[in-house]
Amino acid sequence: MQTNTETKKHVPVSQPVLGELESEYVNKALRDNAISGFYGEYLSKFENGFAEYCGCKYGVTTTSGTTALHLAMLSLSIGAGDEVLVSSLTNMATFFAVLYTGAKPIPVDIEKDTLNIDPKLIEEKITEQTKAILVVHLFGHPVDMDPVTEIARRHNLFLVEDCAQAHGAEYKGKKVGSFGDIGCFSFYANKILTTGEGGMIITNNSAYAEKAAVLKSLAFGVKNKFMHQDIGYNYRMTNLQAALGCAQLERIENIIDNKRKVAQFYSEKFADNPYLQLPVEKDYAKNVYWMYHVVLKGILKGKREIVMNHLTECRIETREGFIPYNMQNVFIEKGFVQFDECPAANDVAYSGFYLPSGPNLSGEDLEYVAENFLDVINSLTNSYT
Ligand SMILES: Cc1ncc(COP(=O)(O)O)c(C=O)c1O
Repeated sequence: MQTNTETKKHVPVSQPVLGELESEYVNKALRDNAISGFYGEYLSKFENGFAEYCGCKYGVTTTSGTTALHLAMLSLSIGAGDEVLVSSLTNMATFFAVLYTGAKPIPVDIEKDTLNIDPKLIEEKITEQTKAILVVHLFGHPVDMDPVTEIARRHNLFLVEDCAQAHGAEYKGKKVGSFGDIGCFSFYANKILTTGEGGMIITNNSAYAEKAAVLKSLAFGVKNKFMHQDIGYNYRMTNLQAALGCAQLERIENIIDNKRKVAQFYSEKFADNPYLQLPVEKDYAKNVYWMYHVVLKGILKGKREIVMNHLTECRIETREGFIPYNMQNVFIEKGFVQFDECPAANDVAYSGFYLPSGPNLSGEDLEYVAENFLDVINSLTNSYT
């Protein structure tokens, strides 16, 4: 195993790609004194540009992916007494957004290979109270949208897509975010396109877009600004952030190409290893590989900490995978959910993690990661043979 400290380089789990264009646009916003969420050319440019990129008519910027999801729920009038079916394995922000409204999120278990919601398990969770299905395109791989869309239509349910990790990912040649009633994005610093913090909802429905635009800005009145239309929120993205977003949008395809090259490199290096479950790309999918998430299998299953610790010693950053909703103590204690409701999600909860996946990693960085990762897993598996 390579542990010589002198030769160790630092490999971050992810870093944004920022350059001259970002500086130019942000500085322009500064020079124009357009720094808030009310004024400036970049806000509508970014909303229109990103919505169009995804194949949707309307975009409404927000302060984060979490607030985009919350606004989506509010725009669809989801609230107390309603149930929303959500893929159990995700960043808990997806569940929080439903909980903010007073509605009850119902976790649905995942497919073992894509780690996305399993369409075959959706119908059995539908009740009289169900109002919506909220799918998550996890780690950049699109959900199998045809069966999900068909179920939503047949049961008259709203369909919302959490695309926080899947900008530019495609299902049967069409970009995610454009399948459901509303698509929600995060532009946090580690996302494929970033504005530092930020988010957006996209939709083809003008009424949803209009409602979201009103609610995100304190629901100000039209005739008399301070005669409010509703309980409003301040979820406004600033023009400074939108300037960053406009620059990022010009390089998004390049970022995605590089993400796909990183994934291809790892997948070739680790192919056929019986102890690793690697990310897949189904024939219906264009995976944008937001993060290269691996699941340890067989005798490596309980060894995640050892593997991650070794990589940390080599100054290679990694992150644990998500813990499903049904395994979160806070919700089990409240009686919202039972621990073993989603066995497939539970199965990967403590054995998945992701490797450095930034679009700007060099060939040398990737070789270094792969070599040290293979070293540690080979040493662990060889000790059993
Ligand atoms: C799937 C998913 N949904 C929602 C969010 C929340 O986004 P934000 O951090 O911008 O609030 C994230 C953040 O990483 C996410 O991965």
